[in-house]
Amino acid sequence: MPKIAAIPGDGIGKEVMPLGVQAVEVVAQRHGLDVDFEWFDFANVEYFQQHGQMLPDGWQSQLGGFDSIFFGAVGWPQVVPDHVSLWGSLLQFRRQFDQYVNLRPCKILPGITPPLRDRGPGDVDFLVVRENTEGEYSNAGGVLFEGTDRELAMQETVMTRIGVDRVMKYAFAQAQKRRKKVTSATKSNGISITMPYWDSRFEAVQSDYPGVETDRFHIDILAAHFVQHPEWFDVVVASNLFGDILSDLGPACTGTIGVAPSANINPTGEFPSLFEPVHGSAPDIAGKGVANPIGQIWSGAMMLDHLGAEAAGREIETAIDDVLRAADPQVLTPDIAGQGTTETLGQAIIDVLRKE
Ligand code: NAD
Ligand code: IPM
Ligand code: MN
Repeated sequence: MPKIAAIPGDGIGKEVMPLGVQAVEVVAQRHGLDVDFEWFDFANVEYFQQHGQMLPDGWQSQLGGFDSIFFGAVGWPQVVPDHVSLWGSLLQFRRQFDQYVNLRPCKILPGITPPLRDRGPGDVDFLVVRENTEGEYSNAGGVLFEGTDRELAMQETVMTRIGVDRVMKYAFAQAQKRRKKVTSATKSNGISITMPYWDSRFEAVQSDYPGVETDRFHIDILAAHFVQHPEWFDVVVASNLFGDILSDLGPACTGTIGVAPSANINPTGEFPSLFEPVHGSAPDIAGKGVANPIGQIWSGAMMLDHLGAEAAGREIETAIDDVLRAADPQVLTPDIAGQGTTETLGQAIIDVLRKE
């Protein structure tokens, strides 16, 4: 019986999580899979206010025995600075559980009008494979000459051969199961040490995958191509920061970031993997009940895939498509041109799952 830790976090994380959990429970039960969710109320800013830290001591052993972590979104910058809340929670999970791959699919769903008006489902369908434990998010650096007019802040980018190679190999393996193309996001014209290193490792790794087509773009023009030629892309492999940016840009081109899912994978299975929507806690809409729950629910499908219940995962994706295709404005959330709520959209998907 898979044991799953549910951690809602802050803001709309708390609103979309119950629907994600319910969708997974309903479909898992129909597939004879007995999933057992346990809820945790740490990794949120109220917990920080009470305890002075985001996570309890010993959180690694508390969570280490779970098969997966289902996560909402953390952050409420009005109360706790983002670098404190995020480095104290999500970024610790990714690192200490060695979730070195962050999988972020991006495709046009039925019924959602993308800003790229002449494109529809099938035209845009790519996967961002984001390096998730090093790179620009290194925490190595510091502030010198503090308080003087020579004050300076530096933060190093760290790329290890193990870290770069393993995520690139993961990307190539994904491409072999898809349309057999990998694009590398680089910036070796301006970032003169780590990015040429990234390019040289890409060349070395690609020689092991002769059946997979490759190309590479500097991140600036790659961002432009995401908007102008999204159909060029199948798997896009990127460093931690570039992958972060591309995985908000991609879903925005498909209509809304509210539908985008993500999987933080520890491929060895030594530690639990973590599944969460790409979006954050959205303070601007939190408490209004209008957050799109699809990013959370689709993340539940990725979690079921990871747990070996692929058929159940596909059922969730089909249910999402069916509800979007029906295009009932009373059901859809405002980010996709509806007048409905988190609850109406989430429950509509769960109702389809019950009937399927
Ligand atoms: P955000 O993703 O929270 O919101 C950006 C915009 O997208 C907002 O206008 C918001 O209303 C909209 N949006 C996001 N999710 C939506 C949904 N499901 N339905 C409809 N609209 C949605 O990004 P932000 O404003 O930069 O960050 C807010 C907080 O969340 C910060 O504390 C940030 O650090 C944190 N954050 C956390 C995560 C995470 O935990 N994985 C990810 C990103 C940001
Ligand atoms: C994401 C988020 C996080 C990141 C932040 C909140 C630290 O933007 O998961 O995309 O940059 O990795
Ligand atoms: Mn992000």
